[in-house]
Amino acid sequence: MILFLLGLRILKVVNALVSPDGTGRLPAMGWNSWNEYACDISEDVFVRVADLMVHLGLKDLGYQYVNIDDCWSVKGATRDNVTQRIIPDPVKFPGGIRHVAEEMHARGLKLGIYGDAALGTQTCGGYPGSLGYEEVDAAAWSEWKVDYLKYDNCNIPQEWVDVPYMYPDNGGRPDGPVPPGYDWSTSNSSARYNRMRDALLAQNRTIQYSLCIWGHANVAAWGNATGHSWRMYSDIYPAWAGARQGSQALMPILNQAAFYWNVSGFWGRNDWDMLEVGNGNLTLEENRSHFALWAALKSPLIIGTKLDAISPEILAVLKAEEIIAFNQDPVYGAGAMPYRWDGVGNDTHPADYWAGSSSRGVHVFLLNTEEVERDMELVFGEIPGLQEQQPSVRRGPYLVHDMWTGKDIGVFSDSAVLRVKRHDTAAVRITTAN
Ligand code: GAL
Repeated sequence: MILFLLGLRILKVVNALVSPDGTGRLPAMGWNSWNEYACDISEDVFVRVADLMVHLGLKDLGYQYVNIDDCWSVKGATRDNVTQRIIPDPVKFPGGIRHVAEEMHARGLKLGIYGDAALGTQTCGGYPGSLGYEEVDAAAWSEWKVDYLKYDNCNIPQEWVDVPYMYPDNGGRPDGPVPPGYDWSTSNSSARYNRMRDALLAQNRTIQYSLCIWGHANVAAWGNATGHSWRMYSDIYPAWAGARQGSQALMPILNQAAFYWNVSGFWGRNDWDMLEVGNGNLTLEENRSHFALWAALKSPLIIGTKLDAISPEILAVLKAEEIIAFNQDPVYGAGAMPYRWDGVGNDTHPADYWAGSSSRGVHVFLLNTEEVERDMELVFGEIPGLQEQQPSVRRGPYLVHDMWTGKDIGVFSDSAVLRVKRHDTAAVRITTAN
């Protein structure tokens, strides 16, 4: 029995997917094609990205997954007549997916693929879905040496639909049932995603499993037993505030996250969608806030920008070592929690002050949602974790350290005031001064 268990790559232990090699214990870090390339992808794109991840030093900081999103296969309900497998697009991927995986592995990186829990023809982009073909597709991905699956939620057959529970809706179609006793772990959505989980677990390969389920069917309540991360909201787009065709800008997503701060931990976490750092017209300060807060939430850090000709300022944001260290802390699995609202707490002015503990101290993220630069106040007595959790930082005076610059700001007794630019986020680490 023990030998049998040791042979397994990932075990479903109580309520989490645990693997001996640590896959999925910490938030995934990597790059994904969707936010900047959409369907305009090819083997060349991924190999070039992989080279750049090594060359730009991103790999050394922990970014390791290079993830293919939608549109990688032959369109429509097309499957191989004999094997029933999805067919990689021969123009985009002339060497097949396994060849791309081998190119990634040769560089010390990993490859991710995309699927959708839909019938027949329909990923979000209209490519073959995997509902009913879970074993076939998981076996193919495993044989192709894929390391990560993002599994989407478009075009679900009506009999598999639930009450979405949370924004967005079921694409205009009627809602399905609420599960008996409101136990969302028995929902249709949970069943769909568990089928793919089981198919992945049956492979002789460790595949990180990312549920792209937009918060549907109260996934926060059961995602941990199904995958390593679960999308909590609709798609992100690169703007500070507002919504566009069902996509949400940064502040509305953060406001949503404020209500789910206590869900994430080791082996499973909320996914607030892939990074838009470097995209659209986000200012440098907005890019910094985006990165710092997604890291603070322990969301996966999946870069979504073009790496060729990336500006040094944006690259520096993505390489902010101490911010990454908080996200990847080996001892504290929980994300930061909101603890102070200077405004009302809405889609324009979500929580301003977030705090979380790491093995290096207590960290505070101070977000300026106002349209002007302003002073923000660190009051040590109100920072969660500082008083209760860590004996090493229990008593002041406190040393306040800037996680962006890596420099100490100073020693303070009761409070400290930090000047924060419009839409910027100050990120500090606090430890006892002596
Ligand atoms: C959406 C998903 C996006 C992207 C897109 C591809 O459902 O949330 O992240 O994968 O599909 O069509």
